[in-house]
Amino acid sequence: MNTLTAICPGSFDPVTYGHLDIIARASKMFGRLIVVVASNGAKHCSFTPKERVEMIEKCTKDLNNVEVIHYDGLLAEYAAQRGASAIIKGLRAMSDFEYEFQMALANKKLNPNVETLFLTTASQNMYLSSSMVKQIASMGGDISSFVPEVIKQDIMDRIYIKK
Ligand code: PNS
Repeated sequence: MNTLTAICPGSFDPVTYGHLDIIARASKMFGRLIVVVASNGAKHCSFTPKERVEMIEKCTKDLNNVEVIHYDGLLAEYAAQRGASAIIKGLRAMSDFEYEFQMALANKKLNPNVETLFLTTASQNMYLSSSMVKQIASMGGDISSFVPEVIKQDIMDRIYIKK
């Protein structure tokens, strides 16, 4: 195992099996992986940052080199503070690419010492997104295939609108 630190940022509103697959794979590639719950100005979140951190912690408790934090500033600055050499992102399809490419270039400009690395999403998670999970949960659907059992009830309690 190398001694490098990487950060894995996202809204994680909520974390899904898609994110968790990327986190588990990245944790094998780096000495330390910091999962950063960050703000995406374009998204309104259903869970508070603290709740999102707690849900990820519940799902990653067996990964010893993974730390989960909330950070409200610029990711490039946080990467510099922690001496991280890489930002890890999952790529699902071409539709993700342009947005991710722009962010990678902006982060490189802000912090030339950090590289953005893209991991391809596992094929079974290609279609999976937090917003899809929330839509299914809001209608009382079964989200067991999309999120771990340990956070399923947290999500249903917040999202399911009983009629
Ligand atoms: O899961 P998301 O919503 O696609 O993640 C986007 C996120 C949160 C990683 C991105 O918006 C971000 O890095 N926010 C932190 C603030 C920042 O650094 N913005 C400039 C990015 S170029």
